[in-house]
Amino acid sequence: MFEDLLQLLLFILPAYFANSAPVLFGGGAPMDFKAKAWDGRRVFGDGKTWRGFLAGIIAGTIVGALLNAYLLGVLLSLGTMLGDLFGSFLKRRLGLERGHPGFAIDQLPFLLFALAFASPIYLPSWEGILVLIILTYVLHVSTNFLANRLGLKKVPW
Ligand code: CTP
Ligand code: MG
Repeated sequence: MFEDLLQLLLFILPAYFANSAPVLFGGGAPMDFKAKAWDGRRVFGDGKTWRGFLAGIIAGTIVGALLNAYLLGVLLSLGTMLGDLFGSFLKRRLGLERGHPGFAIDQLPFLLFALAFASPIYLPSWEGILVLIILTYVLHVSTNFLANRLGLKKVPW
């Protein structure tokens, strides 16, 4: 049981690093280059930058390589950053401004995309996926609160 949980954590670690790195290393040109979608709102918004996107992929890939799972690291990181981008795309289409909390949209797309991208190599059991969804939700909410307290993020979500 404990070993299963540890294995699950090690498996998803590259995704967590990919998701956190942009907060530290992001900035510069936004990925949508300020372009607007059909609804007049930004495609992704200023919270998604090229530097953050690349930093996420590099950080997750390094962690994967350190865990002796380079390819899994690449897939998890790529999935994480594309899922994060998709989440922001959804938030903008729902009329939520950059940085506003999006219940579940902030926490889950990156995980689900990461799992989908990694699935050709490894996919946890459905119980494992359920544990990851709950764990990711709790960790995301608490680490964002902490990042806000530490002055790394303007808002606590
Ligand atoms: N970030 C970045 N590039 C990315 C993803 C994130 O630069 N591809 C940085 C931004 O500084 C962003 C911060 O990481 O503000 C936190 O990411 P996130 O919470 O995903 O973005 P939000 O600013 O909350 O924007 P959104 O409402 O689109 O989620
Ligand atoms: Mg956010």
